[in-house]
Amino acid sequence: MVPPLESPLAGAGPTENAGQRPIRKRPNRLAAPPARAVTGIKAILFVVSLGPAVRLLVGALTDQLGANPVEFITRNSGDWTLIFLSLTLAVTPARWLTHWHWLQKLRRMLGLFTFFYALVHFTTYFWLDKFFDLSAIGKDIFKRPFITVGFAAFVLLIPLAATSTNAMVKRLGALRWRRLHRAIYLIAPLAILHFWWMKAGKHDFSKPILYGSVLAGLLAARILHGAWVRWRAAPARVPSERAAASSR
Ligand code: HEM
Repeated sequence: MVPPLESPLAGAGPTENAGQRPIRKRPNRLAAPPARAVTGIKAILFVVSLGPAVRLLVGALTDQLGANPVEFITRNSGDWTLIFLSLTLAVTPARWLTHWHWLQKLRRMLGLFTFFYALVHFTTYFWLDKFFDLSAIGKDIFKRPFITVGFAAFVLLIPLAATSTNAMVKRLGALRWRRLHRAIYLIAPLAILHFWWMKAGKHDFSKPILYGSVLAGLLAARILHGAWVRWRAAPARVPSERAAASSR
């Protein structure tokens, strides 16, 4: 899963900006690391991202997941799904702030790890909790709202993960791909609602509020940035035009 591609306007140079609001080009504060270093960073990120899954596997094999290992794995993988979702959505705003464009190369991997942990989470429920009992799972999905929204978030993640390759971006075309990946604006609130509802019984909302605030901030940053890019790309009106427009 990869969140929306950048607007093609983002890279417009001064000559492509005729009649539009002036673009102040800021210099890169830090030069991009060489390609080999980025490959190394990606390899390290891959190993680190696998850490929580390896820890769960080792814990399960050595019987160190507490009295209820299934619940432990479900909750832990649910937490990691939200953490990776937040990290994936943080890449683009981090790039805007730091001007480290190479960060974008980490986004797809983080998105795929979001899906991976969601899959571990769902598989634990489907297999270790419900033992493939489709009628019990169906009843849960229809009768327990927190399962319904969690399931919806998971189903919506599938096409994003499936279209994360370069070949799929090409096949769909950038515009359709970008539209499809806007599903992330629905997935994130559904995931938080799932968590919120699950915790409602215990009136313990501290973690859902924390994750909810982080995700809301990251989504708001994208919406505001999109509006700013559109505003900047719009033709700048001269004062006489502006006065005429306001008198209409
Ligand atoms: C993007 C999708 C999803 C996300 C981000 C997500 C996230 C979470 C989180 C954060 C928790 C609580 C962890 C904690 O207590 O710290 C949780 C619990 C849980 N989730 Fe999900 N979830 C998703 C999808 C699903 C799906 C598809 C199912 C099953 C159909 C599911 C079933 C459960 C169950 C059974 C629990 C544990 C409830 C309990 O222990 O009482 N989740 N999930």
